Amino acid sequence: MYRCVIVSIILYSVLSRTTLSSYVDPHYLACEPQTCGNQSIRYPFYIQGKQQPFCGYPGFAISCDSNGFLILSLSNTPYIIHQIFYHNQSLRVSNAAFSSANNTNTPDSCISAAHNLTLPPTSTFNLVHQNNHKDIVLFFGCNLSSMPLELLDYRIGCSEATNKTDGSVLALYKDDVKTVSLVSKSCGTGGEVVDAVVEESEGVGIEEKLRRGFMLNWTASDCKLCNSTGGRCGFNSTIFTFQCYCTDRIHASKCVISDGRSKASMMMGLALGLAAAVTLLLVMVTLYYTRWKKQNSKHLLVDAFLERHGHLQIKRYSYSDMKKVTNSFKNKLGEGGFGSVYKGQLKDGRHVAVKILSELKGDGEDFINEVVSMSRTSHVNIVALLGFCFQGSKQGLVYEFMPNGSLEKLLSDENDVIGDRQLDYQTLYDIAIGVAKGLEYLHKGCNTRILHFDIKPHNILLDENFCPKISDFGLAKVCTRKESMVSISGTRGTAGYIAPEVFSRNFGVISHKSDVYSYGMMVLEMVGRRRNIKTEVDASSETYFPYWIYNRLVSNQELGLQSISNEFDNEKVRKLTIVSLWCIQTNPSNRPSISKVVEMLEGRVELLQLPPKPFWFSPSASP
Ligand SMILES: *[C@@H]1O[C@H](CO)[C@@H](O)[C@H](O)[C@H]1NC(C)=O
Ligand SMILES: *[C@@H]1O[C@H](CO)[C@@H](O)[C@H](O)[C@H]1NC(C)=O
Ligand SMILES: *[C@@H]1O[C@H](CO)[C@@H](O)[C@H](O)[C@H]1NC(C)=O
Ligand SMILES: *[C@@H]1O[C@H](CO)[C@@H](O)[C@H](O)[C@H]1NC(C)=O
Ligand SMILES: *[C@@H]1O[C@H](CO)[C@@H](O)[C@H](O)[C@H]1NC(C)=O
Ligand SMILES: *[C@@H]1O[C@H](CO)[C@@H](O)[C@H](O)[C@H]1NC(C)=O
Ligand SMILES: *[C@@H]1O[C@H](CO)[C@@H](O)[C@H](O)[C@H]1NC(C)=O
Ligand SMILES: *[C@@H]1O[C@H](CO)[C@@H](O)[C@H](O)[C@H]1NC(C)=O
Ligand SMILES: *[C@@H]1O[C@H](CO)[C@@H](O)[C@H](O)[C@H]1NC(C)=O
Repeated sequence: MYRCVIVSIILYSVLSRTTLSSYVDPHYLACEPQTCGNQSIRYPFYIQGKQQPFCGYPGFAISCDSNGFLILSLSNTPYIIHQIFYHNQSLRVSNAAFSSANNTNTPDSCISAAHNLTLPPTSTFNLVHQNNHKDIVLFFGCNLSSMPLELLDYRIGCSEATNKTDGSVLALYKDDVKTVSLVSKSCGTGGEVVDAVVEESEGVGIEEKLRRGFMLNWTASDCKLCNSTGGRCGFNSTIFTFQCYCTDRIHASKCVISDGRSKASMMMGLALGLAAAVTLLLVMVTLYYTRWKKQNSKHLLVDAFLERHGHLQIKRYSYSDMKKVTNSFKNKLGEGGFGSVYKGQLKDGRHVAVKILSELKGDGEDFINEVVSMSRTSHVNIVALLGFCFQGSKQGLVYEFMPNGSLEKLLSDENDVIGDRQLDYQTLYDIAIGVAKGLEYLHKGCNTRILHFDIKPHNILLDENFCPKISDFGLAKVCTRKESMVSISGTRGTAGYIAPEVFSRNFGVISHKSDVYSYGMMVLEMVGRRRNIKTEVDASSETYFPYWIYNRLVSNQELGLQSISNEFDNEKVRKLTIVSLWCIQTNPSNRPSISKVVEMLEGRVELLQLPPKPFWFSPSASP
């Protein structure tokens, strides 16, 4: 009997090892580094059309042309990538218009003013060594025969001889005002002026400088840890999260390194099999024991808690009460991972929402969390817990009923009509302020502060007047006022709303600022009517809503959002946008506290400063 068990364990371990080693995760395979010309292409770059977008970071799509030139398109202007320096996250690029102008004998190579030679503002790349750059102005259609001879040195590209009607192209330093004004006369009305940028270097002509281009750097999350553990980096733009593709599966930041046993002799196998059998036995015994213990302790824990908090303001119901209140669970309002929510009515006529938890998770921590957090709160912007039920395996929570459902439902409503009124920015603005005040109340408690850790539209409920109320405290953490940082186990929250420090401690400590981040993402979602989180992000990160709206704010453009109908709306949306962009700063210390958020929202829009670019992964955070 025992021999039989051992043999089957050996067989099992051998079999499972072979099946494991023959399986390779398709993401890993898809993201094999590519070469273009003599350059290696890997994360954060990916070759559009040849590689999947998930192998790179949004905005890092490049193409490889037939001559082996790497082309990066910035706002539809092609730039040639001369070299990528992965180790210090930088690359040298030049406007492709100048590179093709390197042969002065063919008319084809004339620089055309139709190209936009201005480096577009981009949130993906930064100019490196800014002080080292010079602005260049280009004049087109110049008549060289009417020009002093020394100016001929500034000629670039095609000469007058090649195309008389086009004239010549001259490039001058923008700060050389004297020469610029001299040239502008000879270039006449046909001349067009376009800006470009070059890097200053000794003993190199202006044409060569244009061709050499300049350095950009990037701040997309770093690949070192993943790469050094044998993985291939990538990015899931649906959930806007870095991923490490390993041979076995997708990991969050690095692959688990196996110890690389190569020789599996028969003896070794046997020894391993024996060890496995013993371990298995031990594990099984331990498992049985802990499960038995846990089941007991679960209830002990909850009961102990209930005893300690016997003086709770809220009512304890029996399961049969709950059944009565909900008319035998007749009217289901919703369902989630936690269980189901039913509509009910108390004896005094009040409508309630009854949440029945499907199973006590962990040590009943979520349940206790919710009861403790909620029983201590009373605020107009926090949903009121009226009672709970804890009887054997049946747990339930009784809340005031919110007739207008959740903010998520409101935002996903296609028609933008709520009840019989149009969903307008005033309503959204009021909701944003209400949620901020609710959070402020939670964060500012006298003895204890409550961190919610799961702020998102789904958890904001709306009463009959669309007054928002924060709900779902299952992940909340009650901590003493003095604690400035919080430790939490595991990752909490919902993708898209989780603050960076919550999923990687490299970004800073977890604190009340983590809620501020989620709040910011939620408000951005309200401003964009869901565009930021739900819409697939395509090749360019400029289409990712926070980037997009940031660029609009900076360039002082109309925000161009639907149904902004008047100046008041515009002002409110501007306020909401600026404040939320402050809230989603990567570095928690750059985010305002929620009290400051309330102050900013209620203050004048002119007083608000624009935040720095919203980067998701700041350089300081790279390990
Ligand atoms: C590619 O080749 C060019 C010249 O042929 C050279 O200047 C450049 O440094 C090379 N790049 C790499 C990454 O080896
Ligand atoms: C990155 O390293 C390369 C050479 O290794 C260097 O030429 C380049 O200037 C560096 N970039 C930055 C931004 O320091
Ligand atoms: C620049 O000129 C060289 C030689 O004249 C040529 O080989 C190269 O392809 C040209 N570059 C481009 C981008 O056309
Ligand atoms: C070129 O691009 C810059 C920046 O994107 C923009 O400000 C400028 O108006 C553009 N010029 C032309 C001629 O399109
Ligand atoms: C990129 O360059 C800018 C400007 O020189 C600099 O402030 C920033 O620290 C650089 N970032 C990285 C990741 O090197
Ligand atoms: C260029 O300038 C010369 C001298 O001023 C003039 O004779 C000639 O007509 C001009 N050519 C064009 C194409 O304007
Ligand atoms: C010169 O430029 C004009 C206008 O861009 C164009 O129509 C003409 O074909 C060019 N001439 C030659 C010889 O390429
Ligand atoms: C990734 O690892 C490979 C070898 O494992 C190494 O050759 C390569 O330079 C590494 N790349 C980065 C970006 O660290
Ligand atoms: C990205 O995440 C979504 C949601 O978790 C998942 O469905 C999808 O398969 C992921 N894609 C990649 C490429 O990892």
